[in-house]
Amino acid sequence: MQEPADATGPGLAWGVKASFVRYVTMGGGEVRVSPAAASVDGLVFFPLLDQGDFELATARGTLRFGGSVRFTGHFGALDLMLAEPWLESDERGAVVSVDTGATGRVPLVALGPAETGVEGELIVWRDIETRMLPEAGPLFNGVYGAGEPFDPATLRIRDL
Ligand code: HEM
Repeated sequence: MQEPADATGPGLAWGVKASFVRYVTMGGGEVRVSPAAASVDGLVFFPLLDQGDFELATARGTLRFGGSVRFTGHFGALDLMLAEPWLESDERGAVVSVDTGATGRVPLVALGPAETGVEGELIVWRDIETRMLPEAGPLFNGVYGAGEPFDPATLRIRDL
């Protein structure tokens, strides 16, 4: 059996988009977080799986997280899975992509700048602004335009 995620450890804590969560749940749909992830204070916590391709000094490279959240509703017409987020950071900025299952890995949001903090043995970036990328538009039925604000994200990794 899989161990439940430890939400105080390294990982990505993110509500995705509050208005979308509200829309799905108020419409009688469901938001289900996979056992590998955790639902904490209304956020999805995706545990850090691999930071081996990330360089802390430059904040560049790739961070891979596990777990998924799945949104369903409208009697099956709405079925969106966001799984195993990757954060990829280079000189152009940082982007989070997700595996949707149906359409493969899709760039979801661009991250804004954030100050690096320390939390015990973890490095933390809190309340990072996120904005939807154009590639993700079809996932949301074309309702949101590119640049649409999604929820702020908090990221914790191990001090290297
Ligand atoms: C039977 C199919 C569907 C119907 C009847 C429907 C209907 C609606 C209606 C009436 C709204 C505006 C009202 C509100 O905000 O509560 C809305 C918003 C929205 N719908 Fe749908 N929809 C359908 C399918 C989908 C699908 C497949 C998606 C894909 C994810 C989707 C994504 C959205 C989004 C992202 C919003 C905006 C939510 C927000 O306020 O942020 N819808 N839909």
